[in-house]
Amino acid sequence: MKGVRRVAAMRALVREARRRGKSVGFVPTMGALHEGHLSLVRRARRAHDRVVVSVFVNPLQFGPTEDLRSYPRDERRDAALCREAGCDWFFRPSVDEMYPEGFQTSVTPGPLAGRWEGAVRPGHFSGVLTVVLKLLEAVEPDTLYLGQKDAQQAAVVGAMMRDFALPSRLSVAPIVREPGGLAMSSRNVYLSPEERARAAGFPRALAAAAALARRGVRDARRLEAEAKRVLRLETKPDAIDYVAVVDPATLEPIRRVAARGLLLGAIRVGRTRLIDNRILIPASGPRGERRS
Ligand code: PAJ
Repeated sequence: MKGVRRVAAMRALVREARRRGKSVGFVPTMGALHEGHLSLVRRARRAHDRVVVSVFVNPLQFGPTEDLRSYPRDERRDAALCREAGCDWFFRPSVDEMYPEGFQTSVTPGPLAGRWEGAVRPGHFSGVLTVVLKLLEAVEPDTLYLGQKDAQQAAVVGAMMRDFALPSRLSVAPIVREPGGLAMSSRNVYLSPEERARAAGFPRALAAAAALARRGVRDARRLEAEAKRVLRLETKPDAIDYVAVVDPATLEPIRRVAARGLLLGAIRVGRTRLIDNRILIPASGPRGERRS
């Protein structure tokens, strides 16, 4: 595995590989790697001749009161994990390399970014899109790998790729969870043992709503209420930013789940913000058709 710090060097390496007919998979991250990230790296490894992983804690996507400064960083561990997972090029540009003096242009996301994370974290998705566009320009991958953990991010990036006719394909990989069900996240290290135990109720709350949907309940308000009930009971979150049943394509709230719904959640446990989501698949057949 080779470490790469400069955009120009990254581009040269990939172009040379591509000239020799090699395909390239790319996994962008902010480091503090865990099994969720590594599942993406392995997926890219299986499908491509060359795998690029970037580690860049992108200041543009953090709000002024967010955890940019305290965001967990461990470059040596990240490099070792990437090497083990089969990464060829470990791209870790500096902030100056990505945003040199005079940098002034950013990407404005569309309506997909308006609600949920976009509403709670103003400017966040503009920062994400700007860095992802820059990274895609540096790496020019055949396939970009993102996680379903950040469902709205994947949707917003997918829209940018379509809208700008970017030549890469997008692959969205399933959420990797800890044994207790909590979605893996770099921010989980902030949780105290007591908070971690409470946080385990979050995926259970989403699962409870999914179970209700499977039993034929299609009414979004009821499904949301069930998730919130379990959440308040088991997690006692310090805040619920949102729990919402949405259309998986538009991320707009829906009143009734038709073929598929997406249950999005964001909560705070202590000072830590957690997000998670779950696909809702109502039972088909007579029970599933029952009005709820
Ligand atoms: P980061 O939070 O480091 O996540 C990098 C990628 O790993 C994202 O696509 C995210 O969805 C995925 N991921 C994180 N936890 C996961 C889990 N438990 N299961 C599956 N995939 C998981 O997302 C970002 O960084 C940044 O916004 C980035 C896209 C790198 C732009 O700065």
